[in-house]
Amino acid sequence: MDPHVLPILKCPRCGAAGSFESARGLACRRCDLVVESARGFHDLLDVATRGEPAAISAEQRLMESPVVARIYERMWRPTFVRLVAGRGAGAGVGGFAGELFIHKNALSLDDRAGPWLDLSCGPGLFTRAIAAAAPGALVVGLDIARAMLEVASGRVKGYTNVVLVRGDAHQLPFVDGAFEGINNAGAIHAYDDAEQVFREIWRTLKPGGIYVGSTFAEAPHFTGRMAARIAGIRRYDPNELRAQLSRLGFAEYEELRLGGAFVFRARKP
Ligand SMILES: C[S@@+](CC[C@H](N)C(=O)[O-])C[C@H]1O[C@@H](n2cnc3c(N)ncnc32)[C@H](O)[C@@H]1O
Repeated sequence: MDPHVLPILKCPRCGAAGSFESARGLACRRCDLVVESARGFHDLLDVATRGEPAAISAEQRLMESPVVARIYERMWRPTFVRLVAGRGAGAGVGGFAGELFIHKNALSLDDRAGPWLDLSCGPGLFTRAIAAAAPGALVVGLDIARAMLEVASGRVKGYTNVVLVRGDAHQLPFVDGAFEGINNAGAIHAYDDAEQVFREIWRTLKPGGIYVGSTFAEAPHFTGRMAARIAGIRRYDPNELRAQLSRLGFAEYEELRLGGAFVFRARKP
C-alpha cells in the first residue's frame, strides 16, 4: 500500500483524521477499528457497526454482481451508455480513449501534484488512466460495490501509486482538503442524495481543487428514456447542476455535451 494514503484517511468509526497506521494491517490508533484489506481493497465502510448498505436501484444491484463487474468495461458500459445517451457519448468521441482524454485534461493532471480521487471508480477504468498519466502521484479509487473493487484490484496490479478503498460517496473516509482533484465519471445519477455527495466532494477537495464528472442529460429518444426508467437512474438538467454546484460554492463551471450525456468541470475556489 502506498503510505501516502495514511495521512488523508479519516476513520469511519470514530471520525479521527490521519489516525491510521499500517504496521499490522490498516488499523485506527484512536478506536478499535481494524480495516479488512484481504481482497485487494481496504474496506472503510465499517459494516460491523453500520451494516451493509442497501442497493437502492436496479442498476446498483447489478453493480454488485461479479458477472456484471467483469464484463462492465468492455460490454456493459459501452452498451448502456449507447442505449441511454446515444452515439455522442461513446463512439462520437472515440470511445474510452476520447472520454479518458477529456477527463484527464479537465483534471489538469500535468499541472498538479495530486493526490487524486477516482470517486465511484467501478472496475477502475479511469483510476488506471489517471495513475498512468500521473505516475508520481497517489491515486485513490473508491467504490461502494465489492464486486467492482475486486475486479479493479486485479486490473491495477503493477500500478504502485493506486490504493483502492470501499466507501460511501455520501460520507467519504478522507480528511478535509485531501485531494487536488476528484474524478466522478458516470455515477451521480446512481446516488441516493447527490447534493450530499457534492458536499463531501467540496469538503475533501483542497482549495483550488478540481471536480470533474459526467452523467446523463435528457434522453434523446424513447428507448433511452425507457432504459433509464427501468434501471432507476436519474437524469440531470445541466443548467440545474450548474446552479446546484454554484450554490454549494463551486466556481468556473464548464460542460461539454456528448449526445444525451455531458462532462462537467468545476473548481473549489
Ligand atoms: C455506472 S458505474 C461508473 C463506474 C466508473 N466510474 C466508470 O465510469 O466506468 C457507477 C458506480 O458508482 C458506484 N456507486 C453507486 N453508489 C455509490 C455510493 N453511494 N458510493 C460510492 N460508489 C457508489 C457503483 O458501485 C458503480 O461502480
